Amino acid sequence: MKELLEKINAIRSELINELKDLKDQAALKTFQETKLSKKSPINALMSNIKNLQGDERAAFGQAVNDVRKEIQDAFAKKQAEIQEAKVQEQIAKETIDITLPSVDYKVGGINPFYQIIDEITDIFVSMGYEVKEGPDVETDYYNFERMNIPSNHPAREMQDSFYITNSILLRTHTSPAQAHVMDEKKGEPIKIICPGKCFRRDDDDVTHSHQFGQVEGLVVDKNINFGNLKATLELFLRKMFGEKREVRFRGSYFPFTEPSVEVDISCMECHGKGCPTCKGTGYIEILGAGMVHPHVLEMAGYDPKEYSGFAFGVGIERVAMLRYGIDDIRKIYQGDVRFIEQFKDK
Ligand code: PHE
Repeated sequence: MKELLEKINAIRSELINELKDLKDQAALKTFQETKLSKKSPINALMSNIKNLQGDERAAFGQAVNDVRKEIQDAFAKKQAEIQEAKVQEQIAKETIDITLPSVDYKVGGINPFYQIIDEITDIFVSMGYEVKEGPDVETDYYNFERMNIPSNHPAREMQDSFYITNSILLRTHTSPAQAHVMDEKKGEPIKIICPGKCFRRDDDDVTHSHQFGQVEGLVVDKNINFGNLKATLELFLRKMFGEKREVRFRGSYFPFTEPSVEVDISCMECHGKGCPTCKGTGYIEILGAGMVHPHVLEMAGYDPKEYSGFAFGVGIERVAMLRYGIDDIRKIYQGDVRFIEQFKDK
């Protein structure tokens, strides 16, 4: 019996030691299969029980069971330890090192072209205008005919343009949007602006580009007069360029307005005295406008005896260049971050 108990102890120590050295799931599995199964050394010891009698038999059985239980518990503990270690290892691997410096991305700004559109839009929306859009690709009919520019009219040559077919072209101004809106409103009052792109076969230089932006404006209702046009544009230009700005209306000509004006603001460099920026005139031309031509109203089904209106067209780049002192229109389109980022906080 003594000998048997020593054997149990020896097996116990051996298994406890083996358990200590287990490192991973695979080792746990092998241990379980060989040392905790039916064919384990502990079970093998049990076969000796038949040689024992009475108390000894019970004591031996108890001793074997105790060891089995102890090894099973130790195994469970080891299993939990290995699993926990695995989790910890995974966490350590997935930790982000927040002390690493991040990649320095270059952030530009919103192109001044779009900043100006936003500003103009804000001003007119605050006066109750709706914002509309017209197509960039237009028919001859909308771009010219509906703007009171028939096919033999010399104004067509002034806007010599990009034709896609004989009767389809890239719009040369945003004015055809006026006709689209009038068609849509079918005789109802109108108060809209329409920002968008225009295209002309210009030779590109520091102040011209074959593609540029305009914001068109149109108001049609009963009793709209030239005083409304003047007050609206003065208010707009002072909001845009500062309260001190002088606004000057000069008689001009557009086929789709009558009377027509060109509107100037006093030069921001010399305040009207005359300098190189304003070519010595003290003023800078900023937009075209006029009372909607009766024929344009008529073509859209508005009775010019009952309805009248005014329209205007502002050049977006021109406003941006004056506001920010940009000396070359082409810089607006080149997407150079060094240029764009100057307008980040404007
Ligand atoms: N469409 C004109 C242009 O392109 C501008 C304009 C718009 C003039 C509306 C009068 C009224 O120059």
